Amino acid sequence: MINFESYNPTKIIFGRGAQKEVGAKLKEYTNKVLFHYGGGSIKKSGLYDEVIASLKAAGIEYVELGGVQPNPRLSLVHEGIKICRENNIKFILAVGGGSVIDSSKAIAAGVEYQGDVWDFFMGKAQLKSALPLATILTIPAAGSESSNSMVITNEETSMKLGHRTNLIRPKFSILNPEFCFTLPKEQAAYGVCDMMAHIFERYFTNTKNTELTDKLCEATLKTIINNAPKIMENPKDYDAWAEIMWAGNIAHNGLLGTGRQEDWASHGIEHAVSAVYDIAHGEGLAIVFPAWMKYVYTQNIALFAQFAVNVWGASDPFTDAQTLALKGIKMTETFFKSLGLPTRLSQINVKKEDIALMAAKATTFGPLGFFKKLEDKDIVAIYNLAF
Ligand code: NZQ
Ligand code: ZN
Repeated sequence: MINFESYNPTKIIFGRGAQKEVGAKLKEYTNKVLFHYGGGSIKKSGLYDEVIASLKAAGIEYVELGGVQPNPRLSLVHEGIKICRENNIKFILAVGGGSVIDSSKAIAAGVEYQGDVWDFFMGKAQLKSALPLATILTIPAAGSESSNSMVITNEETSMKLGHRTNLIRPKFSILNPEFCFTLPKEQAAYGVCDMMAHIFERYFTNTKNTELTDKLCEATLKTIINNAPKIMENPKDYDAWAEIMWAGNIAHNGLLGTGRQEDWASHGIEHAVSAVYDIAHGEGLAIVFPAWMKYVYTQNIALFAQFAVNVWGASDPFTDAQTLALKGIKMTETFFKSLGLPTRLSQINVKKEDIALMAAKATTFGPLGFFKKLEDKDIVAIYNLAF
């Protein structure tokens, strides 16, 4: 196990009716917020009205900014920063999924910074302060509701980049599994894939002696694998959604990476695909992760065999570790398919001639990953495996 600092200050308020507390909880911090949301799902579900009612009841002033798109755009972040400055707003309330939350985090990061907030994503500046924010999560997936990261798309350069800092962890996040009932099946599947990917990025490590976090990762993955078919079958299964929603948070709140070196190559490889093709992040991961696994598993066959046995229940006393390792990868891919996810770039109409461009974008800041360090040529090979 390697040395670590564990820090996650985000308070989680979980369960039925939890959204009703939003006004009262915000009152502990502020009298005025930027109310930031997406393309309208919260209006259809009634959550928008509930939030307004709760803000009014608590006497909290608000300025609204809707319109966040999946793969949140830098231009809307700029607009949010301007609104906050003009209205002297010092707190952001994000209501939606990872895209809304990341857009809110970027606004929070940009308001007090004199330069362009994109500087943080390009590694040109170090974030020193950010406005506080809180979230109401409507889709379990990205884990942004308590993560230290934000991912924004610069639509002018077709670059999708992330930035990590503890300064952007929300003060509190409200998670009510009932919000998930209105999710389209494909969004539910993307979310499941993304949270599994957040665990894979941590599980596949070269760090030795990580028994506790190995087992926590395996238990969280098994919980997701057990409950995902239930939500696909019955989108109003509260108990299954509760497991998925909590697992999605645990997957990315930092706990599962403690004491081990994390990888994150597959996320970089996927972000280049969603930057160029504007696909959903979870959809891209269902394609990239099995290919990454096939490309790197020989680095540590025993760990991949452990994954096959402990997560997927693959076991055969007469089978060698390599066969088990490959079986685990196959079972991962089959599971994604069972959720209706694509597992090949060709299925989402990616053009073969764009592979070099995407690999170049993925390695803008150098090689990716730690489990196996991946240069441009390795990433081209992974895209080809995924084709
Ligand atoms: O915009 P609305 O109308 O709300 O619709 C959204 C959107 O179209 C819809 N939706 C959300 N909740 C719903 C709902 N529809 C019906 N009922 C509900 N309850 O779902 C669509 C997708 O929303 P989005 O926020 O884009 O999804 P997700 O949470 O998967 O976020 C994806 C973004 O997060 C980034 C991804 O790269 C991507 O840009 N990530 C952020 C991370 C972080 N900050 O820590 C880590 C992740 O690895 C990821 O990279
Ligand atoms: Zn992700």
